[in-house]
Amino acid sequence: MKKWLLLLLGTLVWPLGTATAQGMEPDWPEVQKLLENRCVICHGAALASQGLRLDSRERLLAGSSNGPVVIAGSPDESELLRRIRGESLPRMPLTGPPYLSDAETALILGWIRSLAPDAASVSRDPDPATPEPEAQALEDPGLFSRVAAVLVPRCATCHSPNGRMGPAPEGFVATSHASLLDARERAWIVPGDPRASELVRRIRGQSLPRMPFDGPPYLSAADIELIEEWIAAGAPNDQGQPAPLPVGARVRLGGTLSGHWQLDGLPLKVAAGTRIRENLRVGQRVEVRGWVESDGTIGVERIRAR
Ligand code: HEC
Ligand code: HEC
Repeated sequence: MKKWLLLLLGTLVWPLGTATAQGMEPDWPEVQKLLENRCVICHGAALASQGLRLDSRERLLAGSSNGPVVIAGSPDESELLRRIRGESLPRMPLTGPPYLSDAETALILGWIRSLAPDAASVSRDPDPATPEPEAQALEDPGLFSRVAAVLVPRCATCHSPNGRMGPAPEGFVATSHASLLDARERAWIVPGDPRASELVRRIRGQSLPRMPFDGPPYLSAADIELIEEWIAAGAPNDQGQPAPLPVGARVRLGGTLSGHWQLDGLPLKVAAGTRIRENLRVGQRVEVRGWVESDGTIGVERIRAR
């Protein structure tokens, strides 16, 4: 008996809510388009960073796991705008720069100002009786999507151009496939070989300090395995194309000497020109500097105790 009543109420209440949004918030359609283009990749159904979804007005108003992100009528106190302006860090969008233009920022400001005082008092828990259609959108995300869903929320908070600690530590940016594999400075990932990838060494704690820097908690064993699987498969992008081997790129690997010359089981190519500073013993913590050879092995320039 109650079901039809709820349905009837639903049809009565829903159009009213929509009419309010359309009537009093003329900027909403533009705001929605902007969020869709710049934010929903990380604040949507597949990956809701910080529990915040920006793929509908209701979800935006429901806020993040920290609470509301907009305060109706008070843009300056709204975390949404503070993140967009970089007053609160890390600045959004996390993929920036570029950040939002002045005109786009003004658009969001105007929309928050136009919100009715009671607009944000939306229940944070969607009605449990209502099935969530978006919940089924996660059919079979690609390997990289699953990796990004682990790395972006845990690493990009610091490893983005304007993160929690300012510029990305060591220049390592974890916001996209391209930035993770950017080897101009150094290769943090050697496609095909997790053991030669400093990123893996850091999340396993073989190389110190262990990442994420704000851990524990560190990544779960299953998440570490997923990342190793992705690198072993050639670190493919979302289209499944493996990344090219960054031949000649510099590497700096931390770990434990497990043989002459092996780093936690990774064979090292030591040649006549290699500088080995101290009398190194197996079992000792070392730092290896070198480069990626054309066959994917690590040519060593220097090994020293750490
Ligand atoms: C590449 C992924 C990514 C993109 C793109 C992105 N975000 Fe975020 N966002 C995050 C992550 C990760 C966090 C959590 C960071 C933290 O505070 O530690 C976050 C946090 C936030 C928060 C803070 C929530 C709270 O309560 O603390 C707001 C607000 C926010 N984002 C808004 C936006 C807006 C607006 C855009 C688009 C203009 C955007 N984000 C684009 C990943 C992203
Ligand atoms: C709270 C901030 C913070 C977070 C979160 C964080 N890092 Fe870091 N990361 C740092 C700092 C600081 C350094 C430099 C530390 C050092 O080596 O002295 C660093 C260094 C690194 C390096 C070494 C770069 C190099 O050139 O040697 C890698 C790789 C790395 N982080 C990966 C990650 C990964 C992967 C995650 C997520 C699982 C992560 N970080 C999360 C702050 C952070």
